[in-house]
Amino acid sequence: MSDKIRLGILGGGGDSLIGIVHRIAANMFDRYELVGGCFNPKPEENTAFAQHLGLAANRVYPSIEALVAGELALPEEERMEVVSVLTPNFLHFPMAKKLLENGFHVICEKPLTTTYAEAQELAALQKQQQKVFAVTYTYTGYPMVRQMKHMIAQGEIGAIQRVDLQYYQGWINPIIHDAAQRAATWRLQPDKSGISCCVGDIGTHAFDMLEYVTGQQVDQLLADLNFLYPDNPMDIDATILVRMQNKAKGVIRVSQIATGEENNFSVAIYGRKGALKWEQENPNYLHHLTEDQPFQTLKRGNAYIAAVAQDGVKIPSGHPEGIFDAMGNIYKGVAKAIRNEKAFDGEYPSLEDGVRGMQFIEQVVASHKAGNQWITMGTNT
Ligand SMILES: NC(=O)c1ccc[n+]([C@@H]2O[C@H](COP(=O)([O-])OP(=O)(O)OC[C@H]3O[C@@H](n4cnc5c(N)ncnc54)[C@H](O)[C@@H]3O)[C@@H](O)[C@H]2O)c1
Repeated sequence: MSDKIRLGILGGGGDSLIGIVHRIAANMFDRYELVGGCFNPKPEENTAFAQHLGLAANRVYPSIEALVAGELALPEEERMEVVSVLTPNFLHFPMAKKLLENGFHVICEKPLTTTYAEAQELAALQKQQQKVFAVTYTYTGYPMVRQMKHMIAQGEIGAIQRVDLQYYQGWINPIIHDAAQRAATWRLQPDKSGISCCVGDIGTHAFDMLEYVTGQQVDQLLADLNFLYPDNPMDIDATILVRMQNKAKGVIRVSQIATGEENNFSVAIYGRKGALKWEQENPNYLHHLTEDQPFQTLKRGNAYIAAVAQDGVKIPSGHPEGIFDAMGNIYKGVAKAIRNEKAFDGEYPSLEDGVRGMQFIEQVVASHKAGNQWITMGTNT
């Protein structure tokens, strides 16, 4: 009998951005079998998409309520073990809560919820239920990001002095200048997205990346947000100063109105002895800077790369891997956790990382509203 993990999906239909990334990621290491889900709230589109995927009709559900009831009625050895929540943000909390309450492992898209309080509620529930819960901060799955974390932990750049993260996109630029379009985009609607657009959508990626690669938490922050139109309550651009727990200082700059930019996410960490720089649009390379040696570029898949970064490599260096592979590595980490296998630290972003992301969003908005005041986040969730 197959030992594949039985996977269900909520959201991520044929009309979605992120659905295909999760489906391919789940297949990447042959650890999962997609057995069913609810991919779209419109019944006809839901059924048509599930048929296109070749799923059995009795495992295609019109809602999460029907999915949970239908799966619980099946024998345990057939039932979904883990469910991925890939819907717009406001559905993450009710869906993840219902899944945890009914004994499923959960993989949930970021931002984890729409409020910090909801995120804390999920964390308390997970403690009771003892289920695996991942929050897909996809970029931590890139091998060269894992290499960066490893080298910083090994002291290769010395004590961190300066951090600089940028995530620039331009896709909201045409939308924000058109009143009808800005009213119709779910990421710009507080009831669908939460209290923030840009910081919730991509600022949380940068924040998670900062704490992931440095192993340090952000202690204090000061934020300045941009909105452009009085009828738009959601930030579309932000500059956030940060002070880390080791007193290093730096900045997170994020924008969705950086005209012409695509997914220009870059991370630079400067230490006493050197620096490491990584860019999402060229993810197979990690740049190592020092004072007394020429600039070095480390490449994924070579023997000099640490085991934690090699673990996710499937094809020799020189054949580029990308975002599907990064998500695949996160799914692999989750599979190891579900099957109680030996794993590296931080192989998938945890529920605690998701909770911290929600705390970050709320503190950024609070700092801006308070007239750009410094706010202490604290270093414990
Ligand atoms: N990790 C990443 O890098 C990354 C990238 C993009 C999006 N995301 C996150 O993924 C989530 C979805 O984003 P997207 O861009 O794919 O959104 P989208 O609007 O493109 O797709 C949302 C999908 O959810 C489905 N849906 C909506 N309501 C539903 C319901 N009640 N039941 C079942 N399905 C429902 C829609 O039909 C659609 O298929 C968001 O939370 C977003 O922040 C993460």
